[in-house]
Amino acid sequence: MNIQAHRKDEHVIIAEKLYQKEAANDLEYVELLFDSLPELSLEEIDISTTLVSRPISAPFFINAMTGGSPETGKINRRLARAAADNDLPFATGSQSVALADPSATPYFTGARQVDPNGFILGNLGASHGLDSALAAIDMLDAQALEIHLNPAQELVMPEGDRSFYWQKNLSEIIAGLPVPVLVKEVGMGISPKTLRKLQQLGVSYVDLSGAGGTNFVAIENQRRHEKEFAFLQNAGLSTAKALLAAQQFAESFSFTASGGIRNALDIVKCLVLGADNVGISGLFLHTLIKQGDDGLDYLIKNLKVQVAKIMLLLGCRNITELHQEKYLLSDQLLSFKKQLSN
Ligand code: FNR
Repeated sequence: MNIQAHRKDEHVIIAEKLYQKEAANDLEYVELLFDSLPELSLEEIDISTTLVSRPISAPFFINAMTGGSPETGKINRRLARAAADNDLPFATGSQSVALADPSATPYFTGARQVDPNGFILGNLGASHGLDSALAAIDMLDAQALEIHLNPAQELVMPEGDRSFYWQKNLSEIIAGLPVPVLVKEVGMGISPKTLRKLQQLGVSYVDLSGAGGTNFVAIENQRRHEKEFAFLQNAGLSTAKALLAAQQFAESFSFTASGGIRNALDIVKCLVLGADNVGISGLFLHTLIKQGDDGLDYLIKNLKVQVAKIMLLLGCRNITELHQEKYLLSDQLLSFKKQLSN
């Protein structure tokens, strides 16, 4: 097995080893106000929304993780099965390994075989140009492509990139791809510095992918002999901070929130803070590994009902009403928000 395929196996093993239930995504510092006289019934609540402007029936999806080796190919098929059975979009992990070595292609295309008509997002890093992006969506017959920005991960990865001239690739991919592009981080949060550049490049869809869940600095640091990058593990914007920082760009982008989403209340808080939908990786992988296919199916079905129940408690009929819902911030988050606008 080549080094890239082997790395995919390591990522899954280390992500699961480091998986923690304790959320540090700062969403606990966002408070919502419930209404004990909602004058609503559960069947009136509409949890549908959009992802890259396509209608989706629930406000969350299975976000990018894996593929490229026999083991991760099996995981992809199982995740795709759970997505198909529950009408959720599904994103594969980076397809770069299959572009370099076509023998790895079945470990991605298996997901499409599971769900010939499903909403599947491909995934590549921003070091790739338009030709690779076209090949990636062709491989999966994908409805959209995620492009990940991960300079911190690359710099901590022993064999990672050391040069980051990515803007030209991004603008060519946005202009030349026949499907929408969702630009994402991998758990460090996309800051207003980057959002300003993405605005110039014509990007419309951004997954903020904040800190507080899967942490790729920690994962890559585990793969180093000396493990000398521990100091960077708490860097980046938490999911709540990334969402607050992104609010000033609400007119320019449709936002996906991700990073440490653990339950339905996390999902609803992200939507109240302005996200149109929420991506979940670590929690779904952990559930699949620990509780199998039935456990993952049960979790997804439960999340849908629980999101609707929380919306009812807030008195919100749909996601548009959630976007207008009032929220309160802890002093720390309020100060963060105020300093951003200075
Ligand atoms: C990821 N993630 C990821 N993202 C990406 O764009 N391309 C990739 O190949 C991968 N690979 C990957 C492997 C594994 C095992 C995990 C758990 C995650 C990052 C993922 O899409 C997401 O941005 C972060 O994991 C934060 O979300 P969670 O995991 O905290 O819900």
